Amino acid sequence: MKHRIYISDIASYKDQEVTLQGWVYNKRSSGKIKFLIIRDGTGMIQGILAQGKCEECALKMFDELTQESSVQVKGFVREFKNNFELSVKSLELIHKTLDYPITPKEHGTDFLMDRRHLWLRSSRQHAILKIRSELIKACRDYFDGQGFTLIDAPIFTPSACEGTTTLFEVKYFDDKVYLTQSGQLYLEAACQAFGKVYCFGPTFRAEKSKTRRHLTEFWMIEPEVAFNDLNDDMDLAEDFLEYSVQRTIKNRKKELETLERDTKILANTKAPLPRISYDEAIDLLKKEGVDFEWGGDFGGTDETVLANHFDKPFFVHRFPSAIKAFYMKEDPKSQKHSLSMDVLAPEGYGEIIGGGQREERIETLLAKLSEHELDPKYFEWYLDLRRYGSVPHAGFGMGIERCLAWICGLQHVRETIPFPRMLYRTTP
Ligand code: 4AD
Ligand code: MG
Repeated sequence: MKHRIYISDIASYKDQEVTLQGWVYNKRSSGKIKFLIIRDGTGMIQGILAQGKCEECALKMFDELTQESSVQVKGFVREFKNNFELSVKSLELIHKTLDYPITPKEHGTDFLMDRRHLWLRSSRQHAILKIRSELIKACRDYFDGQGFTLIDAPIFTPSACEGTTTLFEVKYFDDKVYLTQSGQLYLEAACQAFGKVYCFGPTFRAEKSKTRRHLTEFWMIEPEVAFNDLNDDMDLAEDFLEYSVQRTIKNRKKELETLERDTKILANTKAPLPRISYDEAIDLLKKEGVDFEWGGDFGGTDETVLANHFDKPFFVHRFPSAIKAFYMKEDPKSQKHSLSMDVLAPEGYGEIIGGGQREERIETLLAKLSEHELDPKYFEWYLDLRRYGSVPHAGFGMGIERCLAWICGLQHVRETIPFPRMLYRTTP
C-alpha cells in the first residue's frame, strides 16, 4: 500500500485499502452510520464510518471532529452509483481546529476577503483558482507551441510604459525606480532578437479606481512579433483567445459547473471574431441612444452596450491617437487614429486585451515622447531599436484576471487572484 494517495486518483484504487490525508469539510450522522466529507486539495470524498467495519476509537473520534481539522484516514475505496466512497477503517487526528471562522452560513465579502488565506479552501474559491491555473497554462502552451520564446521582463523599471499617472514609485538605494506597468517595451527589444516572444508576469498600476475590473497588481501575458502589423496582431489575438478559452472550458468543466457558469457564450470563442473600428463603435452607441463624443475612451457602460451586440468576444480597433500610449503607431490613412486594438468580452465584461502596432520611426517616436512629456533620456535604449534594423512590429497584453472573471462569470476581479491587491486592500 502506498503511504498516501490523492483523492483525484481514487478511481485507480477501487476495492483497495488506501490512506488519505486532508481536512474535514463536513460531517453528519444518520442513525448508526457516520458520514465524513474529506477534502485534500485535489478533490472531496465521502467517508463512511459504520460500527463493526471501523475501529471503535475512530467512531469516538468522529464526534470530536470539527470543520477544517486535519486528519489521516485509512479505508477501502468503494464504487457507489458512479461515485467513489471510502469505507473508513481508522482515523487519526493530525490537528484539531477550533472555531473555524468561515462556516457554511453566508458571510460578507469584506469578512471573507480579510480571511482570504482561509477562504481559499472553500469549494467556490478552489474552483476559480483551478480554472486560473488552467487558463495560465493554456496561454503559455499556446505561445510555446507557436514557436514563441519566453522572455522575462524586469519588474523594476526606470520609466513609464502606460502613462506616468499610474506608476508605483519604489525607493532604490539612493535613487528611485517604478514597478512595471507592462513588459512591452522590453519585448519590443526581444522581438528584434528572437522574432516571436512573450512574457508573463505581475504588472502594477497605481490606479485610484475602485471598480470591479481594477487591481493594483495583476498578471499579464504579452506577445510581441517582429514584422507583424495591426491585422496580424488581431489574427494572433483571435487564435490565442480561441485556444486558451476553449482549452480552459474543456479541461475545467467540473469547476465551471461548481460555479454554475453557463458556458454557451464562452464556447462561441472561435475565429472569426467580429472586428469593428472605434468610429463604427460610436455609430453603434449613438444608435442605442448613448451620447458619446468622438475622442473619448469607452466607459464600463459604453462597453456593455457595445458588447450586447455580440455573442462572442470582439475587436475594437483604431482608437483616437490622443487617448493611447506614446508607442502606438498612427494610422497612415488618418493621423488622429492609432493602429491600436482592444478585445472586449461579451456579457458586460469589457476590455480583456489591449495592444496594437508600434511606432517604428525614430523621429515620430521622439515627437510622441515629448507630446507625452516623457524624458527621452530614459528611452535611449528603446530608441536604439529604431536606429538598428527597425521593423514594423505589434503585440498585445491580456490581463489574466479580467479574462478569468469573464470565464468564471464573476461580478468582480477580486476573486480571480489568490491574494488581491486593490486600492484599499494589501492584506492578507
Ligand atoms: O490595455 P493595457 O494597459 O495595455 C498594455 O499594458 C500594453 N502595454 C500591452 C501590450 O500591448 N503588450 O493593459 C492590457 C490588459 C487590459 O486589456 C486588461 O486585461 C489588463 O491588462 N489590465 C488590468 N487588469 C486588472 N486591473 C487593472 N488595473 C488592469 N489594467 C489593465
Ligand atoms: Mg487598455
